[in-house]
Amino acid sequence: MQKVAVIPGDGIGPEVVREAKRAIDAVSERHHLDIDFEEFPLGAGHYLKTGEVLSDETIGRLEGKDAILLGAMGDPRVKPGVLEKGILLRLRFHFDQYANLRPVRLMEGVPSPLAGAGRKVDMHFVRENTEDFYVGIGGRVGDGKSRKELELVRKAYEAKFDLGLDVKGAGELAFQIGVVSRKGADRVVDFAFALAKEKGLDLVTSVDKANVLTEVYGLWRESVDRASAKYGIAKEFQYVDAVALHMVRTPERFKVLVAPNLFGDILTDLGAALQGGLGFAPSGNSNPDGISMFEPVHGSAPDIAGKGLANPVGAVLSGALMLEDLGHKGAATEIESAVASVLREGKHRTADIGGRTSTSAMGDAILERLEKGGP
Ligand code: NAI
Ligand code: MG
Repeated sequence: MQKVAVIPGDGIGPEVVREAKRAIDAVSERHHLDIDFEEFPLGAGHYLKTGEVLSDETIGRLEGKDAILLGAMGDPRVKPGVLEKGILLRLRFHFDQYANLRPVRLMEGVPSPLAGAGRKVDMHFVRENTEDFYVGIGGRVGDGKSRKELELVRKAYEAKFDLGLDVKGAGELAFQIGVVSRKGADRVVDFAFALAKEKGLDLVTSVDKANVLTEVYGLWRESVDRASAKYGIAKEFQYVDAVALHMVRTPERFKVLVAPNLFGDILTDLGAALQGGLGFAPSGNSNPDGISMFEPVHGSAPDIAGKGLANPVGAVLSGALMLEDLGHKGAATEIESAVASVLREGKHRTADIGGRTSTSAMGDAILERLEKGGP
């Protein structure tokens, strides 16, 4: 038996997670999967009732699971960041989910800035999730001499920065430190090459800006060189600005891309736009040696919550990613094919792409396709 924690969360989270669960249940039966779901009612409701965001006891219970399926966090009644940071970021950090997996696939029938151009969009983004310019280390100093002691604590390592500053004539100066460690780069780059190998793809594109940010991305490139040799898979280095251009002009050239945190953050949103919008984008926060968490890219969308307007496709595809992570590739592929088939047919379209199909009716259509046994 495999144990999955389900955290529906806030806003449209519960609405879309419900559809993901129905799809998983449908394929589970046919593929004889034995998955035990336990629901965790974390989020705004729980917080407002109990004052608790995420307890150590709950984390302890999550540690006994094989994977986590999450809806979305965030509620207008709660100060921004409390739930997002207190639950999402805490879980990502606690379980050291260092690889953010973002498949960007444009399915037939989905409107996208590229749909009319007849371009094939099917790439796998792997974004590093713990380092780079997002380590939160920086400061502000005035003119003159000063000292800053900064500390970086990660699951795998610790680093202390003891900086002596001597600023003349700036008035005030702010700085932010970007960090790439050998361990941090190696593990996420390995993840990307392992993904390419598993999917039979023959190229990994490394995204960076090593011509300007020579230290951090110089080390990053060494990791890519090493992994390319280790896995016997070709690599290419591309600057982030060029990648942005090619994603729009010639998206079909990309297969697997591996990017440091900051550039990955930006480019994966571009990816979401190319695949039809937030409602279509799935993601995984992966730790191949630990507990990974799967969630649609979108947030809790309070503007449409409770109206049946949410597009469940991103959540359903996140469920498929989770099944793949749990070793059920066949079942995952079946869900993806069912979604693709419904979209290709074009009878069922949710409001985000100008249709009138409700969240649950979209779920029904996917289910019907699954029960028929695929397209
Ligand atoms: P959002 O992703 O919730 O919504 C942005 C826009 O896209 C809204 O107009 C919304 O209606 C639409 N949208 C999003 N998902 C959709 C779907 N599945 N179907 C149809 N339309 C969809 O981002 P926003 O509005 O910036 O944030 C709302 C809350 O969600 C905030 O509290 C924010 O912090 C939180 N958030 C949580 C995330 C997570 O749980 N991973 C990620 C992003 C934001
Ligand atoms: Mg982002």
